[in-house]
Amino acid sequence: MPDTLTLTDNRTGKKYEVAIKNGAIRAMDLRQVKVDDADFGLMSYDPAFMNTASCQSKITFIDGDKGILRYRGYPIDQLAEKSNYLDVAYLILYGELPTAAQHDEWIEAIKLHTMLHENLKKFMEGFHYDAHPMGMLVSTLAALSTYYEEAKRISDPQVRRMQTLRLVAKIPTIAAYSFRHSIGRPYVYPDNDLSYTGNFLNMMFKMTEPKYKVNPALERALDVLFILHVDHEQNCSANAMRAVGSSHTDPYSAAAAAAAALYGPLHGGANEEVLRMLELIGSKDKVPEFIKRVKAGEGRLMGFGHRIYKNYDPRAKIIKQMADAVFDVTGKNPLLDIALELERIALQDEYFVSRKLYPNVDFYSGLIYQALGIPTDMFPVMFAIPRTSGWIAQWEEMVTDPEQKIARPRQVYLGAGERNYVPVDKRK
Ligand code: ACO
Repeated sequence: MPDTLTLTDNRTGKKYEVAIKNGAIRAMDLRQVKVDDADFGLMSYDPAFMNTASCQSKITFIDGDKGILRYRGYPIDQLAEKSNYLDVAYLILYGELPTAAQHDEWIEAIKLHTMLHENLKKFMEGFHYDAHPMGMLVSTLAALSTYYEEAKRISDPQVRRMQTLRLVAKIPTIAAYSFRHSIGRPYVYPDNDLSYTGNFLNMMFKMTEPKYKVNPALERALDVLFILHVDHEQNCSANAMRAVGSSHTDPYSAAAAAAAALYGPLHGGANEEVLRMLELIGSKDKVPEFIKRVKAGEGRLMGFGHRIYKNYDPRAKIIKQMADAVFDVTGKNPLLDIALELERIALQDEYFVSRKLYPNVDFYSGLIYQALGIPTDMFPVMFAIPRTSGWIAQWEEMVTDPEQKIARPRQVYLGAGERNYVPVDKRK
């Protein structure tokens, strides 16, 4: 049987044969379907890209029905158990796990770029004292483009590599400064003796002690959280990174757009919303009543449901397992009992079962961040740190893909037909 699809246009009786490749037809093949020569040709209408692939990618594989997530072919649970964030960032960016020599070189290169220009520090100081840290992160990412003029030369692989190093290295520094600023503490310079996550904890929490002592269990937990958040194929922020980057803007501006997309409560802002929801519920016995309200359409169960996963999000499974290691050090987060009860009830309830709504990555991550002493406002920022490497990998793949052009969707126009201008005194 040929790998083709035969279409019959019942308006004209004409038949068309279009190729099927990798489980998809090319939307442009529909354009030949016309009523007459004046017809523009058939388009597909797909609000929110429910069934449209915008690219071919070799980065991340997800099987949402089976709950499978792989980066460059490696199962997420193996990476979370055996790898570390920078190792995984290299994998996602360059396609292969680094050799020992490449690993060392990569870590050294990242360490070289962890500091921010002093003026950028001043830029961040200009934010209002209670500015949301994610707003600071979005703006500071965009501001980076004004420091690295050459970043515009996106067709030069060396230039792209340099901005990749800068973005991966500086994002924790910007993130930590946004936190320190929001609570009025002085900024802490990076300590390159520490690991990527150890240094981030140092920049977040160091007080007057000459050297910050990292708790290895918490450092590891954060590293695993970072691994789980590296990439998730064509999600809203990756799509923003690609779409904005497709106009050949510099990667800092594109990353600012991606971070802005991540900020929304339906995407990376969801973990913040989960914590607010758990606090609002207040106690385990109020869970059934809350579920009732969700089912009545009075709000959503935040941290539940996913566009792609119609099964337990594999990342949520790993985070849930990891929670105990963190709570052993920090003491149990009292909101955990409410979260567990929500999950228990929801997973038995027909409303959630029939809609295949399971906990997603955000359901438990906020509880761990909170146990680490990270305030709720910072949760989307925590997501943005590791996702930066994913965004750059998506951007790099887009920039080097000869098939990609400026992203410019079509529309189905339903507005008024042509009409003549009416002067203001004649309008009704
Ligand atoms: N609580 C209650 N009902 C829900 C939820 C939820 N969390 N999520 C989906 N539903 C219901 C919808 O009301 C809809 O019901 P209906 O068919 O009776 O109208 C049905 O399930 C399908 O929902 P959609 O909104 O069509 O699903 P979509 O794929 O567009 O949305 C999304 C996915 C945005 C993640 C959604 O599940 C949601 O809002 N979840 C809560 C927010 C959240 O946790 N976001 C984080 C996502 S993970 C990430 O970005 C890292």
